[in-house]
Amino acid sequence: MKEVEDACSCLTAKWGDARPLVGVICGSGWGALAEQLEDSISLSYDEIPGMSPTTVIGHEGRLHLCSVGNGHAIIFQGRRHFYEGEGWGPVRFPVYLAHQLGVQTLLLTNAAGGIRSSFKTGDMMALSDHLNFMPGNPLIGPVENLGIPRFPDQTEVYCPRIRKLILKSAEEQHARIHEGVYVALSGPAFETPAEIRAFSGMGADAVGMSTVPEAMLANALGMKVGGLSCISNLAAGIASHKLSHEDVERATKTALPKMKATVLSFLQTLLS
Ligand code: HPA
Repeated sequence: MKEVEDACSCLTAKWGDARPLVGVICGSGWGALAEQLEDSISLSYDEIPGMSPTTVIGHEGRLHLCSVGNGHAIIFQGRRHFYEGEGWGPVRFPVYLAHQLGVQTLLLTNAAGGIRSSFKTGDMMALSDHLNFMPGNPLIGPVENLGIPRFPDQTEVYCPRIRKLILKSAEEQHARIHEGVYVALSGPAFETPAEIRAFSGMGADAVGMSTVPEAMLANALGMKVGGLSCISNLAAGIASHKLSHEDVERATKTALPKMKATVLSFLQTLLS
């Protein structure tokens, strides 16, 4: 794809021969991750051909190339969401770009509403699988344009080895972490209590508005995928109050030190 190649050339012209093997897409509340890492170079999404600024409060819109261990990681500080109304293109682009740059492992982070009754605000959840309740499917389109198999297997979208490493990294920080199933809806409205009861019955442990499209594409492209949620609130009807994005931001801010330490330890192990 011409736009991905252009973006790739723009980045490699700036950062020379660094070859990032790991990528992280930061969801709500996770953006501060990039700040703790040794920054080689950071660019605004505006400066990268094919990338466009985010429209969601708290999603910065910068791509960082960071040195970690003996290698490099790229951190997308801010994600595009389907509910922003521009279709799948902006959601897919960072995944294609990471793939073109040679990234082999993609960690997708998000804030999510907790459905499982034992979950507490501030816990983390490593995704073991997902339920895709987003409209349509991000892999629809002529395959020659998408560069993926027509019928990608989804038996193991989230790599078990990567999941184990996420769990170990969190446990080393004495952070509460679980494994579970994430259900994705388009948003932007939060769910109703009846929807949450239905998703609970279907086996969902946490709910959110992202991650699944990127995970499906990265898996179809042959990358190893990890998914990591911060439980920023209890889902509608489980929480005793109404939900708001401000509450999501507040809760992730409180949990941030453990979230950051977990991802740093994860990256160091992977890149050592
Ligand atoms: N529902 C959907 N998306 C979310 C939630 C939620 O409760 N919390 C954070 N993102």
